[in-house]
Amino acid sequence: MQTLNRIADLREALRQPRRDGKRIALVPTMGNLHRGHLELVREARRHADIVVATIFVNPLQFGANEDLDSYPRTLADDQAGLEAEGCDFLFAPSEAEMYPNGRENQTIVEVPGLSDMHCGATRPGHFRGVTTVVSKLFGIVQPDCAFFGTKDYQQLLVIRRMVADLCLPIAIHGVAIVRDEHGLALSSRNGYLTPEELAVAPTLSRVLRDTAAAIEAGETDYDRLAEDAQQQLEAAGFRRDFVRILRRSNLEPATGQDRELVILSAGYLGAARLIDNIEVNR
Ligand code: PAJ
Repeated sequence: MQTLNRIADLREALRQPRRDGKRIALVPTMGNLHRGHLELVREARRHADIVVATIFVNPLQFGANEDLDSYPRTLADDQAGLEAEGCDFLFAPSEAEMYPNGRENQTIVEVPGLSDMHCGATRPGHFRGVTTVVSKLFGIVQPDCAFFGTKDYQQLLVIRRMVADLCLPIAIHGVAIVRDEHGLALSSRNGYLTPEELAVAPTLSRVLRDTAAAIEAGETDYDRLAEDAQQQLEAAGFRRDFVRILRRSNLEPATGQDRELVILSAGYLGAARLIDNIEVNR
């Protein structure tokens, strides 16, 4: 695997494979890679000839009081993990390479509506930062396909919408959440948890599974179900962000008519904000 830090070098490296008609996949990440990220690379390998992973802790998507400075940076381990998965190129640019005119002077890409609800309401400007940097990565790599985890369910929807709205010729693949043996969704932010908090953290996925089971069994009072779930999380030690039962297509509140639902949740535990979700059919 080759690691490149400059846009021009990556473009040069991709020129010949592209000319040879090779299919190019992009896997964008912020590094500190775990099995969840590596599953995206594995899936990309199945769909493409050339896999490009990127590591860039994108300042544009962090709020002023968030963990930009403390976000874990583990490049050597990440390179080893990617190499083992057969990744072809790692693009790991500096901030100056990505934002040469400064963060404030960057042209932005924004998906209205979808970006403002749920995680976007808790983290104003977050999805604008995501769509802006992902647009740039799309422009830099010009991939045929790109891979994102369903762990960040709203992010995946926002990116799908952006690609549709901007008519980008890129197939977006969603990859299922990778969990630990207790059901906890793998996340770089799990590293912020103490051993005691780590023991509590799987409650999030358990409460979601129980809520999904209640819906499958015919329960339709979604407000009450969501509030019950919220209270179980708080009893376990989570501080409240949200639990919502939503229509999968547009993340609006689900009604009794909807068949394809998703439960989105976010909660604070110690120094971490954890998210999880589960799809439900009824
Ligand atoms: P990051 O949090 O590093 O995640 C990179 C990709 O890995 C995302 O598509 C995310 O959904 C996926 N992922 C994370 N944990 C996962 C898990 N447990 N199972 C499956 N997939 C998982 O998401 C971002 O970075 C950034 O917002 C980014 C898209 C790179 C833009 O900066």
